[in-house]
Amino acid sequence: LALKILLCDPDEEWLATASKFLSDQLYQVKSVYNGKDAQLALYNDSYFAVILNIDLTNHSGLQVLKFIKTNYTNQNVVMVVNKDQEDNRESLIKMGAKDLIAKPFELSELCQTLEGHQSLGDLVNNLPKKEGGSSAEEEVSGEDANFTKIPIGEFFSSKAVLFDIYVRLSSGRYIKILHAGDAFDRSRVEKYKNEKGVEYLHFHNKDRRKFVQFNNFLAKKLISNKALPSEQKVSVLKNTTEKYLEEVFTVGMKPQVIEQGKQVCENVYRLIEKDDSLFKLLKSYQEFDPSAYSHAFLVTMFSSCIIKQFEWQSKSTIETTALACMFHDIGKMSLPKELLEKKVDDMNAEELEEYKKHPELGLEMVEGNRMINNSVKQIILQHHESFDGTGFPFGKKGANILTLANIVSMADRFVHIMVEEEVAPIVALKKILTQKEEASRFNSMIVANFINVFVDPAKIDKDKSMPSNSRIVNNKAS
Ligand SMILES: [Fe+2]
Ligand SMILES: [Fe+2]
Repeated sequence: LALKILLCDPDEEWLATASKFLSDQLYQVKSVYNGKDAQLALYNDSYFAVILNIDLTNHSGLQVLKFIKTNYTNQNVVMVVNKDQEDNRESLIKMGAKDLIAKPFELSELCQTLEGHQSLGDLVNNLPKKEGGSSAEEEVSGEDANFTKIPIGEFFSSKAVLFDIYVRLSSGRYIKILHAGDAFDRSRVEKYKNEKGVEYLHFHNKDRRKFVQFNNFLAKKLISNKALPSEQKVSVLKNTTEKYLEEVFTVGMKPQVIEQGKQVCENVYRLIEKDDSLFKLLKSYQEFDPSAYSHAFLVTMFSSCIIKQFEWQSKSTIETTALACMFHDIGKMSLPKELLEKKVDDMNAEELEEYKKHPELGLEMVEGNRMINNSVKQIILQHHESFDGTGFPFGKKGANILTLANIVSMADRFVHIMVEEEVAPIVALKKILTQKEEASRFNSMIVANFINVFVDPAKIDKDKSMPSNSRIVNNKAS
Protein backbone atom coordinates (compact mmCIF):
# COMPACT_ATOMS: atom_id res chain seq x y z
CA LEU A 1 0.00 0.00 0.00
CA ALA A 2 1.43 3.32 -1.03
CA LEU A 3 1.38 6.26 1.35
CA LYS A 4 -1.29 8.81 0.57
CA ILE A 5 -0.40 12.46 0.24
CA LEU A 6 -2.80 15.38 0.06
CA LEU A 7 -1.39 18.26 -2.00
CA CYS A 8 -3.09 21.62 -1.45
CA ASP A 9 -1.89 24.47 -3.65
CA PRO A 10 -3.54 27.26 -5.65
CA ASP A 11 -1.09 26.85 -8.56
CA GLU A 12 -2.60 24.24 -10.88
CA GLU A 13 0.51 23.85 -12.97
CA TRP A 14 2.66 23.18 -9.93
CA LEU A 15 0.09 20.73 -8.62
CA ALA A 16 0.26 18.70 -11.81
CA THR A 17 4.08 18.59 -11.81
CA ALA A 18 4.35 17.80 -8.11
CA SER A 19 1.66 15.17 -8.30
CA LYS A 20 3.47 13.40 -11.14
CA PHE A 21 6.80 13.61 -9.31
CA LEU A 22 5.45 12.22 -6.03
CA SER A 23 3.56 9.44 -7.83
CA ASP A 24 6.86 8.41 -9.40
CA GLN A 25 8.22 8.16 -5.86
CA LEU A 26 5.47 5.65 -5.09
CA TYR A 27 3.23 8.00 -3.19
CA GLN A 28 -0.49 8.06 -3.92
CA VAL A 29 -1.41 11.68 -4.50
CA LYS A 30 -4.65 13.66 -4.26
CA SER A 31 -4.51 17.32 -5.30
CA VAL A 32 -6.84 20.16 -4.39
CA TYR A 33 -6.84 23.86 -5.37
CA ASN A 34 -8.64 25.44 -2.43
CA GLY A 35 -9.09 25.16 1.31
CA LYS A 36 -12.68 23.92 1.21
CA ASP A 37 -11.70 20.95 -0.95
CA ALA A 38 -8.73 20.28 1.30
CA GLN A 39 -11.00 19.96 4.33
CA LEU A 40 -13.44 17.81 2.40
CA ALA A 41 -10.63 15.49 1.31
CA LEU A 42 -9.42 15.15 4.90
CA TYR A 43 -12.94 14.36 6.00
CA ASN A 44 -13.29 11.60 3.42
CA ASP A 45 -9.91 9.92 3.63
CA SER A 46 -6.82 9.68 5.77
CA TYR A 47 -3.41 10.82 4.60
CA PHE A 48 0.15 10.13 5.61
CA ALA A 49 0.95 13.80 5.02
CA VAL A 50 -0.69 17.02 3.90
CA ILE A 51 1.35 19.50 1.89
CA LEU A 52 -0.39 22.77 2.57
CA ASN A 53 0.33 26.07 0.84
CA ILE A 54 -0.18 28.97 3.23
CA ASP A 55 -1.52 31.09 0.33
CA LEU A 56 -4.50 28.82 -0.30
CA THR A 57 -7.81 30.68 -0.78
CA ASN A 58 -11.45 29.89 -0.08
CA HIS A 59 -10.40 28.79 3.39
CA SER A 60 -6.88 30.06 3.77
CA GLY A 61 -3.90 27.80 4.47
CA LEU A 62 -3.97 28.91 8.09
CA GLN A 63 -7.67 28.14 8.42
CA VAL A 64 -7.09 24.64 7.09
CA LEU A 65 -4.17 24.22 9.47
CA LYS A 66 -6.43 25.20 12.35
CA PHE A 67 -9.10 22.78 11.13
CA ILE A 68 -6.51 19.98 11.07
CA LYS A 69 -5.20 20.79 14.52
CA THR A 70 -8.70 20.71 15.95
CA ASN A 71 -9.91 17.57 14.18
CA TYR A 72 -6.87 15.48 13.29
CA THR A 73 -4.28 16.16 15.96
CA ASN A 74 -1.59 13.77 14.76
CA GLN A 75 -1.78 14.63 11.08
CA ASN A 76 1.58 15.30 9.43
CA VAL A 77 1.40 18.73 7.82
CA VAL A 78 4.19 20.26 5.77
CA MET A 79 3.47 23.95 5.31
CA VAL A 80 4.61 25.55 2.05
CA VAL A 81 5.56 29.16 2.80
CA ASN A 82 7.29 32.10 1.15
CA LYS A 83 10.91 32.90 2.01
CA ASP A 84 9.96 35.79 4.31
CA GLN A 85 7.58 33.60 6.33
CA GLU A 86 10.29 31.16 7.33
CA ASP A 87 10.86 33.17 10.50
CA ASN A 88 7.41 32.13 11.64
CA ARG A 89 8.56 28.52 11.90
CA GLU A 90 7.97 28.24 15.62
CA SER A 91 4.50 29.75 15.61
CA LEU A 92 3.42 27.62 12.63
CA ILE A 93 4.71 24.53 14.40
CA LYS A 94 2.74 25.53 17.47
CA MET A 95 -0.30 25.83 15.23
CA GLY A 96 0.10 22.21 14.16
CA ALA A 97 2.57 22.11 11.25
CA LYS A 98 5.19 19.36 11.50
CA ASP A 99 7.59 21.11 9.18
CA LEU A 100 7.96 24.04 6.79
CA ILE A 101 9.38 24.26 3.34
CA ALA A 102 10.05 27.66 1.78
CA LYS A 103 9.50 28.51 -1.86
CA PRO A 104 11.20 28.08 -4.21
CA PHE A 105 12.22 24.50 -3.55
CA GLU A 106 13.07 21.45 -5.62
CA LEU A 107 10.56 18.61 -5.53
CA SER A 108 13.34 16.33 -4.34
CA GLU A 109 13.62 18.55 -1.24
CA LEU A 110 9.93 18.08 -0.61
CA CYS A 111 10.48 14.33 -0.82
CA GLN A 112 13.31 14.52 1.69
CA THR A 113 11.10 16.46 4.06
CA LEU A 114 8.41 13.83 3.74
CA GLU A 115 10.88 11.02 4.31
CA GLY A 116 12.18 12.79 7.39
CA HIS A 117 8.78 12.31 8.98
CA GLN A 118 8.19 8.73 7.96
CA SER A 119 8.12 6.25 10.76
CA LEU A 120 9.63 2.82 10.21
CA GLY A 121 6.14 1.43 9.72
CA ASP A 122 5.56 4.01 7.00
CA LEU A 123 8.84 3.11 5.35
CA VAL A 124 8.04 -0.57 5.29
CA ASN A 125 4.52 0.07 3.97
CA ASN A 126 5.91 2.26 1.25
CA LEU A 127 8.24 -0.39 -0.14
CA PRO A 128 7.53 -1.52 -3.68
CA LYS A 129 5.67 -4.81 -3.52
CA LYS A 130 7.62 -7.96 -4.27
CA GLU A 131 6.09 -10.87 -6.11
CA GLY A 132 7.23 -13.69 -3.88
CA GLY A 133 10.64 -13.86 -2.18
CA SER A 134 13.66 -11.87 -3.20
CA SER A 135 14.92 -10.63 -6.53
CA ALA A 136 17.87 -11.95 -8.48
CA GLU A 137 21.32 -10.46 -8.07
CA GLU A 138 22.18 -7.73 -10.48
CA GLU A 139 25.52 -6.21 -11.36
CA VAL A 140 25.63 -2.43 -11.51
CA SER A 141 28.29 0.20 -11.94
CA GLY A 142 28.45 3.30 -9.81
CA GLU A 143 30.94 5.74 -8.35
CA ASP A 144 32.47 4.58 -5.08
CA ALA A 145 31.90 8.03 -3.59
CA ASN A 146 28.16 7.47 -3.86
CA PHE A 147 28.19 4.41 -1.64
CA THR A 148 28.66 3.96 2.05
CA LYS A 149 29.73 0.74 3.74
CA ILE A 150 29.04 -1.17 6.91
CA PRO A 151 30.74 -4.32 8.26
CA ILE A 152 28.55 -7.35 7.42
CA GLY A 153 28.30 -8.49 11.03
CA GLU A 154 27.12 -5.06 12.12
CA PHE A 155 24.36 -4.75 9.58
CA PHE A 156 20.86 -5.22 10.93
CA SER A 157 17.62 -5.04 9.04
CA SER A 158 13.89 -5.15 9.50
CA LYS A 159 12.13 -8.19 8.01
CA ALA A 160 12.01 -6.51 4.64
CA VAL A 161 15.08 -4.51 3.65
CA LEU A 162 14.37 -0.79 3.50
CA PHE A 163 16.77 -0.03 0.67
CA ASP A 164 18.95 -1.74 -1.92
CA ILE A 165 22.05 -3.50 -0.60
CA TYR A 166 25.21 -4.13 -2.54
CA VAL A 167 28.46 -6.03 -2.37
CA ARG A 168 31.47 -4.28 -3.93
CA LEU A 169 33.33 -6.27 -6.57
CA SER A 170 36.00 -3.73 -7.44
CA SER A 171 36.23 0.01 -7.79
CA GLY A 172 33.00 1.20 -9.41
CA ARG A 173 31.48 -2.28 -9.73
CA TYR A 174 28.81 -3.58 -7.38
CA ILE A 175 26.33 -6.42 -7.15
CA LYS A 176 22.91 -5.56 -5.85
CA ILE A 177 22.28 -8.55 -3.59
CA LEU A 178 19.06 -7.34 -2.01
CA HIS A 179 16.45 -4.98 -3.42
CA ALA A 180 14.28 -2.69 -1.30
CA GLY A 181 11.32 -4.74 -0.18
CA ASP A 182 13.12 -8.10 -0.32
CA ALA A 183 12.87 -10.29 2.72
CA PHE A 184 16.07 -9.97 4.72
CA ASP A 185 17.87 -13.26 4.95
CA ARG A 186 20.79 -13.23 7.38
CA SER A 187 22.12 -16.60 6.21
CA ARG A 188 22.28 -15.43 2.61
CA VAL A 189 24.28 -12.39 3.64
CA GLU A 190 26.57 -14.46 5.88
CA LYS A 191 27.31 -16.66 2.88
CA TYR A 192 29.06 -13.77 1.17
CA LYS A 193 31.22 -13.40 4.22
CA ASN A 194 32.02 -17.05 4.75
CA GLU A 195 32.33 -18.23 1.16
CA LYS A 196 33.62 -15.15 -0.63
CA GLY A 197 35.41 -13.32 2.15
CA VAL A 198 33.25 -10.22 1.71
CA GLU A 199 33.66 -7.94 4.73
CA TYR A 200 31.34 -5.04 4.00
CA LEU A 201 27.84 -4.42 2.73
CA HIS A 202 27.27 -1.21 0.81
CA PHE A 203 24.29 1.01 0.30
CA HIS A 204 23.61 4.19 -1.64
CA ASN A 205 24.29 7.50 0.11
CA LYS A 206 20.76 8.58 -0.72
CA ASP A 207 19.52 5.83 1.61
CA ARG A 208 21.77 6.85 4.48
CA ARG A 209 18.97 8.66 6.24
CA LYS A 210 16.82 5.53 6.18
CA PHE A 211 19.75 3.61 7.62
CA VAL A 212 20.10 6.11 10.47
CA GLN A 213 16.39 6.09 11.09
CA PHE A 214 16.21 2.33 11.30
CA ASN A 215 19.32 2.06 13.45
CA ASN A 216 18.08 4.73 15.85
CA PHE A 217 14.95 2.67 16.29
CA LEU A 218 16.96 -0.51 16.67
CA ALA A 219 19.40 1.05 19.14
CA LYS A 220 16.49 2.13 21.32
CA LYS A 221 15.24 -1.46 21.42
CA LEU A 222 18.65 -3.06 21.96
CA ILE A 223 19.66 -0.68 24.74
CA SER A 224 16.64 -1.55 26.85
CA ASN A 225 17.43 -5.26 26.51
CA LYS A 226 19.41 -6.09 29.63
CA ALA A 227 20.57 -9.46 28.30
CA LEU A 228 22.54 -8.00 25.42
CA PRO A 229 26.25 -7.29 25.85
CA SER A 230 27.39 -3.64 25.93
CA GLU A 231 29.60 -4.26 22.88
CA GLN A 232 26.62 -4.82 20.65
CA LYS A 233 24.81 -1.75 21.92
CA VAL A 234 27.86 0.47 21.52
CA SER A 235 28.49 -0.89 18.04
CA VAL A 236 24.96 -0.08 16.82
CA LEU A 237 25.21 3.36 18.37
CA LYS A 238 28.61 3.92 16.79
CA ASN A 239 27.40 2.98 13.29
CA THR A 240 24.29 5.12 13.69
CA THR A 241 26.29 8.13 14.86
CA GLU A 242 28.94 7.80 12.18
CA LYS A 243 26.48 7.43 9.31
CA TYR A 244 24.47 10.26 10.79
CA LEU A 245 27.52 12.52 10.79
CA GLU A 246 28.38 11.52 7.23
CA GLU A 247 24.89 12.67 6.32
CA VAL A 248 25.25 15.99 8.18
CA PHE A 249 28.63 16.63 6.62
CA THR A 250 27.18 16.00 3.14
CA VAL A 251 23.73 17.55 3.16
CA GLY A 252 24.29 20.15 5.89
CA MET A 253 22.24 21.06 8.93
CA LYS A 254 18.72 20.62 7.60
CA PRO A 255 15.92 20.57 10.18
CA GLN A 256 14.97 16.95 9.56
CA VAL A 257 18.64 15.96 9.84
CA ILE A 258 19.03 17.78 13.18
CA GLU A 259 15.92 16.00 14.43
CA GLN A 260 17.59 12.64 13.76
CA GLY A 261 20.66 13.81 15.66
CA LYS A 262 18.53 14.49 18.69
CA GLN A 263 17.30 10.91 18.51
CA VAL A 264 20.89 9.68 18.41
CA CYS A 265 21.60 11.74 21.55
CA GLU A 266 18.58 10.28 23.29
CA ASN A 267 20.01 6.85 22.59
CA VAL A 268 23.40 7.88 23.94
CA TYR A 269 21.60 8.99 27.09
CA ARG A 270 19.64 5.73 27.31
CA LEU A 271 22.76 3.63 26.96
CA ILE A 272 24.62 5.53 29.63
CA GLU A 273 21.69 5.50 32.02
CA LYS A 274 20.78 1.87 31.62
CA ASP A 275 23.98 -0.04 31.08
CA ASP A 276 25.81 -0.59 34.32
CA SER A 277 28.52 -2.75 32.82
CA LEU A 278 29.53 -0.19 30.23
CA PHE A 279 32.53 0.80 32.36
CA LYS A 280 34.10 -2.61 31.72
CA LEU A 281 33.91 -2.17 27.97
CA LEU A 282 35.16 1.42 28.11
CA LYS A 283 38.23 0.47 30.10
CA SER A 284 39.67 -1.55 27.27
CA TYR A 285 37.78 -0.20 24.26
CA GLN A 286 39.88 -0.74 21.17
CA GLU A 287 38.60 1.04 18.12
CA PHE A 288 41.33 3.14 16.59
CA ASP A 289 39.57 4.34 13.48
CA PRO A 290 41.08 7.77 12.71
CA SER A 291 38.06 9.09 10.77
CA ALA A 292 36.47 12.35 11.85
CA TYR A 293 33.12 10.57 12.33
CA SER A 294 34.57 7.96 14.63
CA HIS A 295 36.39 10.72 16.53
CA ALA A 296 33.13 12.58 17.08
CA PHE A 297 31.40 9.43 18.26
CA LEU A 298 34.07 8.66 20.84
CA VAL A 299 34.11 12.23 22.14
CA THR A 300 30.32 12.01 22.46
CA MET A 301 30.49 8.74 24.40
CA PHE A 302 33.21 9.74 26.81
CA SER A 303 31.88 13.26 27.46
CA SER A 304 28.46 11.82 28.24
CA CYS A 305 30.00 9.24 30.57
CA ILE A 306 31.90 11.96 32.48
CA ILE A 307 28.75 14.03 32.92
CA LYS A 308 26.94 10.97 34.22
CA GLN A 309 29.35 10.95 37.17
CA PHE A 310 28.25 14.36 38.39
CA GLU A 311 25.38 14.65 40.81
CA TRP A 312 23.87 17.50 38.76
CA GLN A 313 23.67 15.42 35.60
CA SER A 314 20.32 15.22 33.85
CA LYS A 315 18.86 13.91 30.64
CA SER A 316 19.04 17.38 29.17
CA THR A 317 22.67 18.11 30.13
CA ILE A 318 23.73 14.79 28.62
CA GLU A 319 21.69 15.22 25.46
CA THR A 320 22.81 18.81 25.02
CA THR A 321 26.45 17.88 25.38
CA ALA A 322 26.10 14.84 23.15
CA LEU A 323 24.73 17.02 20.37
CA ALA A 324 27.54 19.52 20.86
CA CYS A 325 30.09 16.70 20.72
CA MET A 326 28.75 15.39 17.46
CA PHE A 327 29.10 18.86 15.94
CA HIS A 328 32.12 20.14 17.89
CA ASP A 329 34.51 20.05 14.93
CA ILE A 330 31.96 20.96 12.26
CA GLY A 331 33.86 24.22 11.64
CA LYS A 332 36.65 22.13 10.11
CA MET A 333 34.36 21.69 7.10
CA SER A 334 35.23 25.26 6.17
CA LEU A 335 39.00 24.71 6.37
CA PRO A 336 41.11 23.66 3.37
CA LYS A 337 41.37 19.89 2.97
CA GLU A 338 45.18 19.90 2.87
CA LEU A 339 45.26 21.55 6.26
CA LEU A 340 43.01 18.90 7.78
CA GLU A 341 45.24 16.12 6.56
CA LYS A 342 48.13 17.51 8.59
CA LYS A 343 48.77 16.69 12.22
CA VAL A 344 48.54 19.72 14.49
CA ASP A 345 52.16 19.18 15.61
CA ASP A 346 53.35 19.39 12.00
CA MET A 347 51.61 22.67 11.19
CA ASN A 348 53.61 25.86 10.72
CA ALA A 349 52.59 29.06 12.52
CA GLU A 350 50.37 30.24 9.72
CA GLU A 351 48.58 26.93 9.35
CA LEU A 352 48.09 26.73 13.09
CA GLU A 353 46.40 30.14 13.09
CA GLU A 354 44.06 28.89 10.39
CA TYR A 355 43.33 25.67 12.26
CA LYS A 356 42.52 27.57 15.45
CA LYS A 357 39.64 29.27 13.69
CA HIS A 358 37.55 26.08 13.59
CA PRO A 359 35.58 26.65 16.82
CA GLU A 360 34.46 30.08 15.59
CA LEU A 361 33.74 28.75 12.10
CA GLY A 362 31.67 26.02 13.73
CA LEU A 363 29.69 28.56 15.70
CA GLU A 364 29.05 30.52 12.51
CA MET A 365 27.60 27.41 10.91
CA VAL A 366 25.09 26.74 13.67
CA GLU A 367 24.50 30.26 14.95
CA GLY A 368 21.28 30.96 13.05
CA ASN A 369 19.89 27.47 13.59
CA ARG A 370 17.01 27.68 16.02
CA MET A 371 16.84 23.92 16.49
CA ILE A 372 20.23 24.05 18.19
CA ASN A 373 20.19 25.63 21.62
CA ASN A 374 22.67 28.18 22.89
CA SER A 375 24.49 25.77 25.21
CA VAL A 376 25.36 23.58 22.24
CA LYS A 377 26.62 26.64 20.38
CA GLN A 378 28.76 27.77 23.33
CA ILE A 379 30.29 24.32 23.77
CA ILE A 380 31.24 24.25 20.08
CA LEU A 381 32.86 27.67 20.48
CA GLN A 382 34.72 26.82 23.69
CA HIS A 383 35.79 23.23 23.10
CA HIS A 384 39.48 24.20 22.81
CA GLU A 385 39.61 26.58 25.77
CA SER A 386 41.78 25.35 28.64
CA PHE A 387 41.27 25.74 32.38
CA ASP A 388 44.75 27.28 32.74
CA GLY A 389 44.11 29.85 30.01
CA THR A 390 46.36 28.26 27.38
CA GLY A 391 43.54 27.36 25.01
CA PHE A 392 41.94 29.06 22.02
CA PRO A 393 40.20 31.02 20.49
CA PHE A 394 39.89 33.39 23.48
CA GLY A 395 42.35 32.02 26.04
CA LYS A 396 39.52 31.98 28.59
CA LYS A 397 40.45 30.80 32.05
CA GLY A 398 38.90 28.81 34.90
CA ALA A 399 35.36 29.80 35.75
CA ASN A 400 35.01 31.72 32.50
CA ILE A 401 34.82 28.45 30.62
CA LEU A 402 31.61 26.47 30.62
CA THR A 403 32.02 23.26 32.59
CA LEU A 404 30.41 21.26 29.80
CA ALA A 405 32.88 22.77 27.30
CA ASN A 406 35.80 21.82 29.54
CA ILE A 407 34.44 18.27 29.74
CA VAL A 408 34.24 18.07 25.95
CA SER A 409 37.74 19.51 25.73
CA MET A 410 39.09 16.80 28.01
CA ALA A 411 37.26 14.00 26.18
CA ASP A 412 38.54 15.42 22.90
CA ARG A 413 42.16 15.46 24.06
CA PHE A 414 41.80 11.98 25.53
CA VAL A 415 40.30 10.46 22.36
CA HIS A 416 43.05 12.12 20.37
CA ILE A 417 45.76 10.39 22.42
CA MET A 418 43.92 7.08 22.49
CA VAL A 419 43.39 6.85 18.73
CA GLU A 420 46.64 8.43 17.60
CA GLU A 421 48.84 6.31 19.87
CA GLU A 422 46.53 3.29 19.67
CA VAL A 423 46.45 2.81 23.41
CA ALA A 424 43.68 1.56 25.70
CA PRO A 425 41.50 4.28 27.23
CA ILE A 426 43.01 3.81 30.67
CA VAL A 427 46.49 4.34 29.27
CA ALA A 428 45.44 7.50 27.46
CA LEU A 429 43.92 8.86 30.65
CA LYS A 430 47.09 8.08 32.60
CA LYS A 431 49.09 10.05 30.05
CA ILE A 432 46.98 13.10 30.74
CA LEU A 433 47.15 12.67 34.50
CA THR A 434 50.91 12.28 34.67
CA GLN A 435 51.81 15.31 32.57
CA LYS A 436 51.34 18.56 34.39
CA GLU A 437 50.85 20.71 31.29
CA GLU A 438 48.10 18.32 30.14
CA ALA A 439 46.29 17.92 33.44
CA SER A 440 46.27 21.65 34.24
CA ARG A 441 44.08 22.25 31.19
CA PHE A 442 41.09 20.71 32.90
CA ASN A 443 39.07 21.43 36.01
CA SER A 444 40.24 18.93 38.66
CA MET A 445 36.65 17.94 39.38
CA ILE A 446 36.24 16.86 35.78
CA VAL A 447 39.48 14.90 35.91
CA ALA A 448 38.29 13.11 39.06
CA ASN A 449 35.01 12.21 37.40
CA PHE A 450 36.73 11.03 34.26
CA ILE A 451 38.56 8.49 36.41
CA ASN A 452 35.17 7.37 37.76
CA VAL A 453 34.05 6.49 34.24
CA PHE A 454 36.20 3.38 34.52
CA VAL A 455 35.08 2.42 38.01
CA ASP A 456 32.17 0.12 38.78
CA PRO A 457 29.24 2.55 39.27
CA ALA A 458 28.16 0.60 42.36
CA LYS A 459 31.37 1.69 44.05
CA ILE A 460 31.24 5.39 43.26
CA ASP A 461 30.27 7.96 45.83
CA LYS A 462 28.66 10.69 43.82
CA ASP A 463 30.20 14.05 44.43
CA LYS A 464 27.37 16.35 45.42
CA SER A 465 29.26 19.60 45.14
CA MET A 466 29.40 21.66 42.02
CA PRO A 467 32.67 22.03 40.18
CA SER A 468 34.53 25.16 41.24
CA ASN A 469 33.32 26.86 38.09
CA SER A 470 29.68 26.30 38.77
CA ARG A 471 28.22 27.69 35.59
CA ILE A 472 27.16 24.43 34.09
CA VAL A 473 25.25 25.74 31.16
CA ASN A 474 24.72 29.23 29.97
CA ASN A 475 21.58 29.87 28.08
CA LYS A 476 21.89 33.59 27.82
CA ALA A 477 22.82 34.87 24.42
CA SER A 478 26.49 35.70 24.36
FE1 LIG B 1 38.32 20.78 17.66
FE1 LIG C 1 37.80 17.12 18.13
